[in-house]
Amino acid sequence: MANNLKILILAAGKGTRMNSSLPKVLHHLNDKSMLEHVLEQSKLLKPKKIFVLINKEMRFVTKLFPKENFLIQQPQLGTGHAVMTFLNKVKISDNEKLLVLYGDNPLIEKKDIQLMFEKIKKNNLVLLGFKKINNQSYGIIVKNNKGIDKIVEFKEASKKERKINICNSGMMAFDNKALKLIKNIKNNNKKKEYYLTDIVEISKKNGLKINLVLSDSEKNAVGVNSQIELIEAEQIMQERLRKKFIKQGVKFIDPNTVYFSSDTKIGKNVKIEPFVVIGKKVKIGDNVVIKSFSHIEEAVIKNKVEIGPFARIRPGSNLEEGVKIGNFVEVKKSKIEKGSKVNHLSYIGDASIGKNVNIGAGTITCNYDGKNKSKTIIKDNAFIGSNTSLIAPVIIGKNSLVGAGSSISKNVKDNNLALTRAVQKSFKKNK
Ligand code: UD1
Ligand code: CA
Repeated sequence: MANNLKILILAAGKGTRMNSSLPKVLHHLNDKSMLEHVLEQSKLLKPKKIFVLINKEMRFVTKLFPKENFLIQQPQLGTGHAVMTFLNKVKISDNEKLLVLYGDNPLIEKKDIQLMFEKIKKNNLVLLGFKKINNQSYGIIVKNNKGIDKIVEFKEASKKERKINICNSGMMAFDNKALKLIKNIKNNNKKKEYYLTDIVEISKKNGLKINLVLSDSEKNAVGVNSQIELIEAEQIMQERLRKKFIKQGVKFIDPNTVYFSSDTKIGKNVKIEPFVVIGKKVKIGDNVVIKSFSHIEEAVIKNKVEIGPFARIRPGSNLEEGVKIGNFVEVKKSKIEKGSKVNHLSYIGDASIGKNVNIGAGTITCNYDGKNKSKTIIKDNAFIGSNTSLIAPVIIGKNSLVGAGSSISKNVKDNNLALTRAVQKSFKKNK
């Protein structure tokens, strides 16, 4: 618990470079908005309170996150003005520290901000920087051998300054002395904005202690201002997830073609073939094989299940131990129990399938009559012949057998054979 730490997340900027009517911080990176990522990492520090600064048009956001503390900055006159606005509304007492994060830095990791918090205990101002060759946009941290001089925005930097490879992540930690100087920030720059970064030069002039934390990867500090940068951030996120699962022992042939959600859980001895997409809320057990071109979301996959190639496992699916889902099979909101197989070309929706059931190729659960969704129940050891339509609501009894090509609209009792097949006729062909 960091009792003397408050966190401010700046998210009031217009985000015009996104070219979208959706506020920038609500754009999704992987399974959640950029703002949720920053909030999630912030909470890991267990601060006293977290504040999020937004603009007037973003008021609806407060309803999406009813538990968070929002403040309004109107108009938005720059990152320095943002902190000024915050300080007019919230008191930071003498022993308290303030960590300022940006809503558009969704890849921050706890370890970096934790280190900033540790460092601010013995400094007045702590910056988070990162090394980057060929910087084209980030503010530049200018140092000499005695310490840090200032931050200059890339657009306003001289040729010599642009050669410096230490960039400003934007994130800063302040003690009360540094915060008292925020009011001295002026807007005499190209954009006529109050730059928070000017606090560095001002602090230096006032003899404050400034420290720089260098993130070990430029990737943790990526700022997302445009759709392209959002895609780049997603790629970094995917890279992180792939590395995590490789380390954890998941077998891949080509991990770069496999996509995860940040909440994906995978057990031991799992193999994932190329071109697999795993969406949010997926839990995969041990000894599972997922073959190429499969798409899985909001599903529980138990031990020894085999999926694909070309399978689609949709929300609410629960595949118990040893289940086999083969090619061109779609499963939605269905539970399939131990050892059952749906190997080819089927749609299983709103169904409950017992143990050791065999579903023949081309079987369709007709779960929707245009108005309502109905359930199909198939009990243990049933065998459904190929190309069968199961017209829900319908129950197929234990050990029963449904003949291929049937349209089943009435319940089938246990141990029965059911079929609805037209009689086959044969005629001699005319020449
Ligand atoms: C800022 C830094 C730059 C740094 C970069 C890192 C300044 C002047 N520049 O530039 O040195 O390298 O971040 O990503 O700080 N915001 C407000 N109110 C405002 C203006 C902005 O809340 O009035 C918020 C935005 O919503 C955003 C964050 O502050 O979350 C940063 O603003 P942005 O305009 O994206 O700054 P950059 O140009 O990226
Ligand atoms: Ca930015």
